[in-house]
Amino acid sequence: MSDPLLSVRGLTVDFQMGRGGLFSPPQVLRAVRGVDFDLTPGRTLGLVGESGSGKTTTAMAAIRLTESSGGQVHFDGTDLMTLSQTQMRRYRKHLQVIFQDPYSSLNPRERVGAIVREPLDLMDVGDPAARADRVRDLFALVGLRPDQMALFPHQFSGGQRQRISIARALATNPQLIVCDEPVSALDVAIQAQILNLLRRLQGEFGLSYLFISHDLGVVQFICDDIAVMYLGEIVEYTDRPTLFSKPRHPYTAVLLEAAPSLARRKSRGYKRQGIVTGDPPSPLNLPPGCAFASRCPQAQERCRAEKPLLQDTGAGKVACHFPL
Ligand SMILES: Nc1ncnc2c1ncn2[C@@H]1O[C@H](COP(=O)(O)OP(=O)(O)O)[C@@H](O)[C@H]1O
Ligand code: SF4
Ligand SMILES: [Mg+2]
Repeated sequence: MSDPLLSVRGLTVDFQMGRGGLFSPPQVLRAVRGVDFDLTPGRTLGLVGESGSGKTTTAMAAIRLTESSGGQVHFDGTDLMTLSQTQMRRYRKHLQVIFQDPYSSLNPRERVGAIVREPLDLMDVGDPAARADRVRDLFALVGLRPDQMALFPHQFSGGQRQRISIARALATNPQLIVCDEPVSALDVAIQAQILNLLRRLQGEFGLSYLFISHDLGVVQFICDDIAVMYLGEIVEYTDRPTLFSKPRHPYTAVLLEAAPSLARRKSRGYKRQGIVTGDPPSPLNLPPGCAFASRCPQAQERCRAEKPLLQDTGAGKVACHFPL
């Protein structure tokens, strides 16, 4: 396997939360707890888990859009954590982001042609005279017409707005794109179109994606490798075929049971079900053992006393005392 494009070790993010009460000390929420992963060039690594599990914070800290409290990140051999703000700004063109809600991430008062052009001007990419042509090409690449460049974001559908976000992310020829729930706000039929577009662009430009989703159907469609997160930690990390055929962590197994594939959902008017039952512990006050013990069908005495570490199983990694 080739060297990783993005290599993350021990990534930790703390948020200062203020005091719990007048006489209690300030509280710290550890949203990301020593996360390790490698993203191989040209592949897609999925970060999956319920809302609040730390997916967005992990990805944003890995590309230094959120401040981390510890850990190392290497991008294409460069130690990102040691770069100055100025150096990091120069680096931004290699690392782009697509967000869940294309409406709030696109300036409503700007024409979409200008929105897609903006990163080229900001990061001084290419010859200024050639930028208009580049924007035109980007529109064609994502399946929009050149005459639509003069319109405003509200004149597009949700799926089209996500195409505009993708064109903007591609503008600077990035190597890595963080896709943060890019299809979660779209109808199922439109989701497939946008995922197919992302796959086609990946093949064409050799892009690497760090792909965040709470939806295993979407993850199965687009990811090569998958890291399952629970309360700020990776609990299972393996390739897609292994995860979907032989989940080892009880949490992954429960998630899978509740998540039919995209294809099944499209054909049968599927309704989303509630996923894992039981309450997770407060991230401000985690139990000493396994953080999943309060909801785990397999939990035993040892689970409440001793924290399971992420360990190699030969076919991926799992953090569980009694893997399936
Ligand atoms: N800016 C912030 N300040 C304080 N807490 C935050 C902040 N951002 C996220 N969190 C907390 O960190 C945890 C992880 O959040 P997040 O990364 O957004 O999860 P996910 O993307 O998996 O839904 C949650 O408990 C969330 O409430
Ligand atoms: S360590 Fe125990 S509680 Fe945690 S996931 Fe494994 S079996 Fe369940
Ligand atoms: Mg998120």
